Amino acid sequence: MAKESVLITGSNSGIGRATAERLAGRGYRVLATMRNLDKGGDLAAAAEKGGWDLTLLPLDVREDGSVREAFRRAGDVDVLVNNAGFEVFGPLEEVTPDDLIDQFDTNVHGPLRCINAVLPAMRERGKGVIINVSSVGGRVAGPLTGAYAASKFALEALSESLHYEVGHFGVRVHIIEPGGIDTPFPDKRRLVGAAAGDESSPYRPLIGEWEQAMGRLLGEGGRSPASMVADAILEAIEKGDKLRYPVGPDAQMVLMARKQMDDETFESTMRQQLGLTW
Ligand SMILES: NC(=O)c1ccc[n+]([C@@H]2O[C@H](COP(=O)([O-])OP(=O)(O)OC[C@H]3O[C@@H](n4cnc5c(N)ncnc54)[C@H](OP(=O)(O)O)[C@@H]3O)[C@@H](O)[C@H]2O)c1
Repeated sequence: MAKESVLITGSNSGIGRATAERLAGRGYRVLATMRNLDKGGDLAAAAEKGGWDLTLLPLDVREDGSVREAFRRAGDVDVLVNNAGFEVFGPLEEVTPDDLIDQFDTNVHGPLRCINAVLPAMRERGKGVIINVSSVGGRVAGPLTGAYAASKFALEALSESLHYEVGHFGVRVHIIEPGGIDTPFPDKRRLVGAAAGDESSPYRPLIGEWEQAMGRLLGEGGRSPASMVADAILEAIEKGDKLRYPVGPDAQMVLMARKQMDDETFESTMRQQLGLTW
């Protein structure tokens, strides 16, 4: 039987890279895509060492032409992992419409571009899996994360609609919802206004308070390893009996509380747990 092919976006780092390694090690044919191939040296070396069937391809999710060319070169794709993403971080009063456009272009339009590229063939084959990497922020919005949460809420909505549309054709859709994961993600955030160090911003004290709150949420265990998300993605591909896969103890706790509580109880509980006074 031919190996299943998996195309992953943003494979040079963090969750994308851990997933490429996990799936290639498991025997999948992996199309590890990234916007800058120069960042793929380590992964290529690991693939060589492990004897994996892994090919690096350039793909910038913001560029129609780049997406088209990557899927043309990839050939048949059985599984798409929409992983590439970044975060605009700062108070909404200081976020510009252009920041929001950029946030959505990568985190929402990017996955849709890849879905548009891969879905016709999956539908015709009557088989395929689409995995969208969302976040706890796709279900719960906090201060300073409005732009990012808006993009992940949008990705959740697209995923849910798609699930209803394409299950009929034999194509599965799964949503991965990680909590805090130990990757270079925080270092690559676009910081705006108070978060970028603007001392004149009235939101300046909120930045420190929120960082402390996140530390309390993660607790002593800190951020979960990227391999935990890779394992959840593998489970979604191979078992695939759930639409949503929360990943990490913080994600489980927040999403369970959100499900069980009304808005007011959730807010007061989280404020108390996280010591948030703002
Ligand atoms: N880390 C967390 O705590 C966490 C929690 C929940 C959800 N997530 C989600 O998990 C996904 C992966 O994040 P990560 O934690 O692994 O962070 P990461 O290490 O920063 O990885 C993000 C990847 O996306 C790529 N990327 C960004 N813009 C791109 C574009 N226009 N085209 C193609 N690739 C692009 C990055 O490439 P460059 O290296 O070139 O920038 C990088 O490879 C993201 O969707 C993120 O929202 C992360």
